Amino acid sequence: MDVIITNQPEKVAADIIETFVRDNATLGLATGSTPLPTYRELIRRHEEKNLSFAQCQAFLLDEYIGLPITHEQSYYRTIRREFTSRIDIPDAKVHSPNGMALDSVAAGHDYDAAIKAAGGVDIQILGVGTDGHIAFNEPGSAFASRTRPTSLHPQTVKDNSRFFEGDEAKVPRRVLTQGLATIMEARHLVLIATGSGKKEAVAALVDGPVDTACPASVLQRHPHATVIVDEAAAALLSKK
Ligand code: F6R
Repeated sequence: MDVIITNQPEKVAADIIETFVRDNATLGLATGSTPLPTYRELIRRHEEKNLSFAQCQAFLLDEYIGLPITHEQSYYRTIRREFTSRIDIPDAKVHSPNGMALDSVAAGHDYDAAIKAAGGVDIQILGVGTDGHIAFNEPGSAFASRTRPTSLHPQTVKDNSRFFEGDEAKVPRRVLTQGLATIMEARHLVLIATGSGKKEAVAALVDGPVDTACPASVLQRHPHATVIVDEAAAALLSKK
């Protein structure tokens, strides 16, 4: 695991992602607040440096169950609003788990099959939850887990209520998420964490034991994982 402490995480992340985009890679996209500056930097490079995503495809990490794709906070909508509608990737090539499927277990299997049929994810962008989750694999998720329906931890419901007018009651409890084993199959993992709210999670995932209590710690087992953090998120790391 490589750990990069920088005051420009979005630039470091965009530099890595750009090399994959120039190779027409399959991108794994995270939603949430953390990658937004990176997406803005990539949009800028698209507009100013002719960085083309036309030959790429993309797979999202997760989706809320029961939110229609027309809902502003569905990840289907969010990634289009914040990123993919502002670059030249064909919309049909932006895939996400079907949170409205009648059978969400089957939808999870279908999603894993679609990733496999695409040849796998070349570069996976990840954020981390304050409780150490990646995608929506909450503490206790099995390292062997695959795309499946699961439930959000109360802490994540609280953290994500900011996207739902601050009202925890409006945050869907059920989600469809890539599993830890699915994520670990991506060829390069890039986890970005910024701000002091993430310092405990970052210390646990980098310095702690590989343990399902901190799902992100599984990155220690990946042959090519890069953790990009700002000073605030790095505050509790043992080696700085
Ligand atoms: C989102 C996702 C989540 C977020 C995490 C951090 O697709 O998979 O794991 O990355 O909840 O969210 P932010 O970046 O909003 O702090």
